Amino acid sequence: MVKPTRWGIIGLGKIAEKFANDLIKVPNTSLHAVASTSSERAQDFAQKFQVPYHYDSYEAIFKTPDLDVIYIATPHTSHAENAILCLKNKMPVLCEKPFAMNLKQVEQMVTIARENDTFLMEAMWTRFLPVIMKTQELIAEDRIGKVKTIHADFGFVAPFTPERRTLNPSLGGGALLDIGIYPAYLSLLLLGYPTDVHALSTFGQTGVDETTSFIFKYPQATALMNATFASRTRTEALIYGDKGYIHLPERFHESKTLTLFETDKEPVTFSFDRETRGYNFEIEEVNNCLRNNKKESVKMPLSMSVKLMSLLDEIRQKAGIFYDGID
Ligand SMILES: NC(=O)c1ccc[n+]([C@@H]2O[C@H](COP(=O)([O-])OP(=O)(O)OC[C@H]3O[C@@H](n4cnc5c(N)ncnc54)[C@H](OP(=O)(O)O)[C@@H]3O)[C@@H](O)[C@H]2O)c1
Repeated sequence: MVKPTRWGIIGLGKIAEKFANDLIKVPNTSLHAVASTSSERAQDFAQKFQVPYHYDSYEAIFKTPDLDVIYIATPHTSHAENAILCLKNKMPVLCEKPFAMNLKQVEQMVTIARENDTFLMEAMWTRFLPVIMKTQELIAEDRIGKVKTIHADFGFVAPFTPERRTLNPSLGGGALLDIGIYPAYLSLLLLGYPTDVHALSTFGQTGVDETTSFIFKYPQATALMNATFASRTRTEALIYGDKGYIHLPERFHESKTLTLFETDKEPVTFSFDRETRGYNFEIEEVNNCLRNNKKESVKMPLSMSVKLMSLLDEIRQKAGIFYDGID
């Protein structure tokens, strides 16, 4: 009999609710505590998901009996502070993407996780989707040959709500950190760290990057990517090899299908239906790590989060995306 993993959530906004909806569908898993800056929000959330403990401050969540892990769902600018608070209380953490605002913050989080011998993982949920695992498997089986080019984009028209985190510079707003992270991560996962990075941005009324286009160069490959809050784009990924290609249809970061196009063969579509949004896979990964007393995930290790944030820092620097107080 597997002991249920008891989860807590800090920051009860949009993603917290979607995550909770998936979490309650995962076997041997329960939503045990929630913490908000608003007592009303904490109470409503607890009632909706039948959560036994709810708090109107993040610090208070550590008094919950038998809590196993906390999911951090606050804006990017709070991730490092919230994660460090949990880790210093020896509380395992799954922290939303982007892991923090820059590499310096990520390195601090990693150091504190190690000092406290406590589990930490970035909620890069795409990593655990069956469609991404299948993509890696097909590449490893040489079905498309050597990967030569990746085209990936993510775009939607963001409503003009300047106070909300997407467009608010003081909450880490902007297309790159919010959605550009997905194509950047795909390229990092499939091709590794690039030898060269080029990037350009346009900026909106609030000063955050509205569109960021970036290119990674590898010794024998390139990746062309785009993230935008200004247009509804196809939000798909194409991975081209010298013997064929793989198409991840919109929205590629949460896709349920992929199509393999091998030279001189009929295309084959692989489908991975699910009744969740897809957060259950990362939840299961965390549960398994904790049940096996692992301090980090092999699939989404801290070294990967360090590389991903280095890459985002480099893109920001090339494109001229700056945030007050963040180098
Ligand atoms: N994995 C995914 O698919 C996915 C999707 C969307 C977003 N995300 C990530 O999740 C994080 C949260 O995004 P969201 O869309 O859920 O944001 P949101 O709706 O604005 O919610 C964020 C929550 O954080 C708390 N918070 C703490 N300090 C805050 C501050 N200074 N200003 C505003 N809120 C503050 C608030 O909750 P309380 O008042 O209850 O504490 C707020 O409701 C972001 O880092 C984003 O990148 C991930």
